[in-house]
Parts: sequence; C-alpha cells; structure tokens
Amino acid sequence: MFNKKMVTDMDVNGKKVIVRVDFNVPIKDGVISDDTRITAALPTINYLLEHGAAVILMSHLGRPKTKEDLQFSLRPVAEHLDTLIDAPVKFAADSRGEIAQKAAAALKPGEVLVLENTRFYPEETKNNPEMSEDLASLADIFVNDAFGSAHRAHSSTTGIADYLPAAAGFLMEKEIKYLGNAIADPVRPFVAILGGAKISDKIGVIENLLNTADKILIGGGMANTFLKAQGYDMADSLVETEVLDTAAGLLSRAAGKILLPIDMVLGSAFDAEAEMLTQPLGDVPSGWRMLDIGPMTIELFSGEISHAGTVVWNGPMGVFEFPRFAQGTFGVAQAVADSDAVSIIGGGDSVSAINQSGLGDKITHISTGGGASLEMLEGLELPGLAALDNK
Ligand code: 3PG
Repeated sequence: MFNKKMVTDMDVNGKKVIVRVDFNVPIKDGVISDDTRITAALPTINYLLEHGAAVILMSHLGRPKTKEDLQFSLRPVAEHLDTLIDAPVKFAADSRGEIAQKAAAALKPGEVLVLENTRFYPEETKNNPEMSEDLASLADIFVNDAFGSAHRAHSSTTGIADYLPAAAGFLMEKEIKYLGNAIADPVRPFVAILGGAKISDKIGVIENLLNTADKILIGGGMANTFLKAQGYDMADSLVETEVLDTAAGLLSRAAGKILLPIDMVLGSAFDAEAEMLTQPLGDVPSGWRMLDIGPMTIELFSGEISHAGTVVWNGPMGVFEFPRFAQGTFGVAQAVADSDAVSIIGGGDSVSAINQSGLGDKITHISTGGGASLEMLEGLELPGLAALDNK
C-alpha cells in the first residue's frame, strides 16, 4: 500500500539531497529535553551519507513570529545532531538567500548542513512557490522524512516536490505503514483509546473510527463533554458546550462502540495540590471537576485492551502532569504495554506518558507525529506524502 518512491529508489551518489525532517523538538534555553524526533531521522541521514550524498536538512521549530525569535533557532539542534552522527554537521543561519546558497554549494559528499528554521519566513506556511523553488535550488533530490509535519502543506514539505525528484525517507515509510495498516487492515478487535482536553479537535477522528474500530475508549477532558451530553451535571469540569449536540450525535451513532468513564477522580481545583475525590459515575458535586478516570474505569478499559488485536492510543486520560491525577493515564499505559496487541501510540502527551512509565519498549510503534497521526486516523490524505513521486 506504500506506493511512493523511497530514498532507496534514488541514485544519491555524489548528489546534494535536501531532506525535510521534523526537528520540532521541545527545547528550552538551548537544551533539548526530548530528542526522539532527531534520533528517528538518523536512519535516513546515515543511509544518505553512506551512499555518497551531501545532506542538507531543513525543518521548522515552533511557531516563530519573526526572524528575531531566536529561541526558535535550529542551531542547538544542529549542535546536538553533531553528537549523534559520525559526519561533520554544519549550520547555515538562513534557509534562503546567499547564506544558504553558499553553504549548500560548499557542502561535500559525506557532510551534513542544517538550515535555519524554515518558519523564519512567513512564506513557508503559505506554501509559497518562490520559497519552495529557493529551497529546491540548493539540491538535486528532495527526500521527505518529516512524518510529524506531513499534514502541513508548506513550502518545505509539499511545494518543494514540484521542483525536484521527490522520495520518502525511512521514518515516513515506517509511520505510514504502521498507522496505515492499523486503520486499513487492523488485527481485530481494534481498540482505539482517545483522550486529551477537547472533543472538537477529534470529531473527525471519532467519526472515522466509528467505521473502523471495534471499541473506542474515551477518557481525558473529552469524556466530560460526552458525559454532559448524556445529561450528567459535570459542575466545574471542562465541558465544550458548543459541541454537546455533536457529542450526543456521535454517541447515538456509536451503538455501544464508545465506552465512557464509569467512575472519576475529581479535583477541588485545577491544581497539582487539589483535594481528590473518587466518585462513581453521577453528578459531580458543585465546586469539583473531573481530572482523571477512576479505578473502575481503568479496569474496564484495561479489560478491553487486554483482548485487543490492535490498539491505537492518542491523548492522556486525565491531567497526568499532576501526579495525583495521573493514575488513569499510567494505568492505561500499563494495560497497553501488557497486551499482546499491535500497539501504536501517537500524540505528544500519550508518548511522554509511556516514556515516563518506562514502558516504551513494550509498544509496537511510537509515532513521532501528533497532528499528523490524528489526521491519518481521521482518514485524511497527508499533503507531505501525496506530493512525493509515485513508485
Ligand atoms: C508537530 O509537532 O505536530 C509538528 O512538528 C507540526 O507542528 P505545527 O503544528 O506547528 O505545524
């Protein structure tokens, strides 16, 4: 089903290859707190180096407003990459213009050049053709390995493919295969676990999963809105009143496929030190809010997960950054790790929960894409993939 040209289909020897990577990593004061996305791109980078290419890497980082937003510079990322590979890593303080052109022209096979944040140009997110052409002019071949940004139609992810032979990298291929298979041809029962604050971000995902999944387990803030739609008073819980009708509609279409919390951990405030109250499903006392799923729900969800053939999980079950409201998320993480199912986890928070629990190596595939993996679950075409040459 993966019908795109691969980096292995290209003759890269002696060529300049510009690779779109997703180096949009968490970074503070120049220190990278999670380099998963960088290490995930290494197989493609190393393949190109070993096959005689000069490798130009481009990425966005964050959402800078202007070029002066230097906290979004990719320089620390280039420095970190230098510690991970055997080749010299250079840095160009611009992704366009003379600085980029000179650095690219001087680059030799076996060397790596990291360009500065492509989003320092507002043209990038507008998929501006001149920007795409400028980026393309630096190289002979384009490789897209930025699965995490494949849902964006931007100059460096999509537009550039109009100007160069365009192939997928190994990370892109791996992500599409795992997520694509899970949706198109899952080992059943196929259990989807959805959490996070808002339903409004995931309506399309739920609609698509109603067609493909056998069970959809819903926790996190999203569950509040579904429970409210069923008539429960959720007191001070986060509820998206504007989508209550949509939530009710999804529940009536679901015909039992959607499982909601049957008990809940309430907090007296939205605070790490808030008082806790564990309650069976029912009206939430005034002044309280649901901050986690309760122990009976963990058991219910774990039971479904334990006999699943495929599990896809996106979004935490509660406010897991507050330790006393983290049991639900970590309980589900444990259940996913314990199951024999093909397990796929996407989305920053659920990935960080699984990593914090030290269970990452028990998961079949941890996706580097948040929004991109959700759009795949929604059944949408990813522009960054669609733009690549077909086999
Ligand atoms: C992500 O972190 O999901 C990707 O890097 C895309 O970032 P964006 O939402 O700022 O486009």
